[in-house]
Amino acid sequence: MHTDPVLQAVIAVFALLLIGAASAIGFKKIQFPFTVGLVLVGLGLGVLRHRVEALEFFGSFTLSPELILFVFLPTLIFESAFNLDVRLLSRNIAPVVTLAAPGLALSTVIVGGLMQALTPMTWGPALVFGALISATDPVAVIALFKDVGAPKRLTVLVEGESLFNDATAIVLFTILVSVVELGTFSGDTVSQGLVNFVRVFVGGLGVGIVIGYLMVRTISLSDDEPIVQVALSTVVAYAAFIAAEHYLHVSGVMATVGAGVIVGTQGSTRFTAELKAYLHQFWEYAAFVANSLIFLLVGLTIDLGQLASFAGPIGLAIVAVLIARAITVFGLVPIINRFPKAEPVDTKYQTIMYWGGLRGAVALALALSLPEAFPFRDIIVALSIGIVLFTLLAGGLTMKPLIHLLGLDIPGIVDRIAHAQGKLVAKRDALARVETLATAGHFSGRIIGELTERYGTELAVAEKNLDTLCTGPDFRGDMMRQVLLTQAFSAESRCYHESFDRGQISEAVLHELDLSVNLERDALKRGEVYELLPFAEPLEVRVQGWWIRLLERLAPASTPVQRHRLRSLAARYERDAAVRAAADDAITAMARVAELANVDDAILDDCRRIYESRAAKAMRRIDDTSEHFPEYATAVQERTARRIALDAEAHAVEQLAKAGGIPESVARDARREVQRALRRLARKPVTTVVPDPKELLTKVPFFKDLAPDDFERVAQSLIPRTVLPHEDIIVQGERGTSLFLIARGVVAVMVRVIGVDEPRRIASLHAGDFFGEMALLSDEPRSATVHSVTACQLYELSKQDVDALCEVCDGVKEALTAAARERAEARLKPR
Ligand code: CMP
Repeated sequence: MHTDPVLQAVIAVFALLLIGAASAIGFKKIQFPFTVGLVLVGLGLGVLRHRVEALEFFGSFTLSPELILFVFLPTLIFESAFNLDVRLLSRNIAPVVTLAAPGLALSTVIVGGLMQALTPMTWGPALVFGALISATDPVAVIALFKDVGAPKRLTVLVEGESLFNDATAIVLFTILVSVVELGTFSGDTVSQGLVNFVRVFVGGLGVGIVIGYLMVRTISLSDDEPIVQVALSTVVAYAAFIAAEHYLHVSGVMATVGAGVIVGTQGSTRFTAELKAYLHQFWEYAAFVANSLIFLLVGLTIDLGQLASFAGPIGLAIVAVLIARAITVFGLVPIINRFPKAEPVDTKYQTIMYWGGLRGAVALALALSLPEAFPFRDIIVALSIGIVLFTLLAGGLTMKPLIHLLGLDIPGIVDRIAHAQGKLVAKRDALARVETLATAGHFSGRIIGELTERYGTELAVAEKNLDTLCTGPDFRGDMMRQVLLTQAFSAESRCYHESFDRGQISEAVLHELDLSVNLERDALKRGEVYELLPFAEPLEVRVQGWWIRLLERLAPASTPVQRHRLRSLAARYERDAAVRAAADDAITAMARVAELANVDDAILDDCRRIYESRAAKAMRRIDDTSEHFPEYATAVQERTARRIALDAEAHAVEQLAKAGGIPESVARDARREVQRALRRLARKPVTTVVPDPKELLTKVPFFKDLAPDDFERVAQSLIPRTVLPHEDIIVQGERGTSLFLIARGVVAVMVRVIGVDEPRRIASLHAGDFFGEMALLSDEPRSATVHSVTACQLYELSKQDVDALCEVCDGVKEALTAAARERAEARLKPR
């Protein structure tokens, strides 16, 4: 049959996709691992292809290295990185990176050494084989983890290792192949290789992060066009890969990892819920297609007859690979466990990581990409196919029973209680609904009777389950605390998201609060003695903070610094308001669980106190800010009102469109307009203008005698400075170069006495007061540290300006000198 090759390939692709989809349904029904099943189906197709002429077209679409590396790999890597739990990964980064970089190198050397000793292969090709076969492929295992509900940390360890080791393997492989081809090897080659390796690895990651950031910005710009935004996300995945690999000669895999992680994390607060849903569905679909095709093609590529002729070397390679994996996992992980602050990976996890190190498409792609003339190429390809097949069949088929045997599929008591409690609440709700239906009189008494009986029984079962769990020996003090706080965290997190939806907090503040709750959850899971953590700052906020602190040293009164301070103050205000509201929700949630799960009163009180004290502190800060910066409270309220108005607008548009009052195109435009306005509102924290210095000057007593001209001049030389609570504005002992006027807020004057650790508070100064005059008048160092108690709005006047002012206005000089004298005397008085 002579058909166009393109048409043949298209037929092959869609036939494979059809088979993939059918297999997905079939294997799910019989609970057989999907990817393993696909390889077996592929093997079967491969045999049939040679016998049945009608199936010949399958031969037109083969597994080439380019297809794997440039078409499938970016999709798979991006999807994994995009969905990766970065927080969990960063906490497990030591074992992940150790296994993926030094671990992979160690495995390469062990496999290479064994193969060179046991087979006719020479060192070079044996090491090349060692490198390519050490890249793990987690697809089959991760799917199983999801099925059985294995711990998330295990997923992150296995998936993270494989993401990074794909990159390491590709880089190491390329270096080794060129060494073999050049035929020279020396100490220099090793050190050069190492430098090269770091450059390619880190460079790739950097390229990906930059492209990811740029794309997130671009994607956010094309608001309201989810399809275009999804299309752009595919561009990110491939642009990062190709720019890195092809143009910049750094690791494409690392670039895609970097871009995926950035799009995943940044997008979580920047993208709309609609876009996020689109993105998840699209990437899940793309990964399904890529995996179906890859595993079927792996099966199709395998020629069992040819493989049989290499049975001996394959057997040896399997032994070598298993030994190498055992040494890397069981040898390196216990070492990392001893690192300070390490969260140990126990033997059960290590066992799963060892046995779950399946090999897949990357190994095959690299083997197939070897040039025809490469020494031992045929054997390397055959060995790789053999290992991929062995690990997939052996690992894939036994992983589920192994997880079960190790008890890793049983959720912890806290999760079980949460689950049982959720069920109980659901049944209660259902029963209450049935009762409402009964009173509404829409249903027959028989149906209502049946439903009531059914839910009644189910409710009794749910109650009994929860009771059994809560009266069991496992459920003691610490567990009770965990159950309560887990519920509290969920309530907290819900409340923050609701506040964001209502427009009460900005996106950046939501991000910060989310991060804090997640860290608290992690701390609780680690079983740390629990105290609510101080609020965590996301990385970007911290980076911005470093930059601002540097600027502050150079130019404390500059506009960017001022703007940043006003913004931080606003964010703090929003955060405190959200924390206060969330504390109420958390306390209610804990009280509810405590009743259901019979938690001791003392433990409930203890947990409640944590939240009460946090709420009280937040309230105090809110009161301080509202007192000294009333416009913040007003601005936050204004924003909420604006948000409510926009919501009402959106609702009105929907109603009109439904009733046919406006055409769909008009409704769509109106909807987008509202969405855009809502997002603009969400992105910005509330900020207010800096008050007019003249307004302040009139409040400072000694300026009241100034002539109008001088008054104007002084007002112009004042530099506004916003200070956050608990900052040192003046430090005792430093040289004094300016005078400060307080427009709003309270500062404390603290003096450190030699030989005494704690500084002593000698005075509090308020709006209308000034400080910093003593050093200016006496040319001595600062006599005290002045520290902000609340947020403050200050005005700074340089020494030259103060001097000039004293020249023209005797009143000012007198007032300053009198204050300095009085203050110096006050310090001498015994306390
Ligand atoms: P200076 O010494 O320049 O820097 C520290 C400032 O703290 C000082 O100027 C005064 O403005 C202020 N200060 C020092 N002692 C007192 C006091 N007893 N009461 C009020 N303010 C004081």
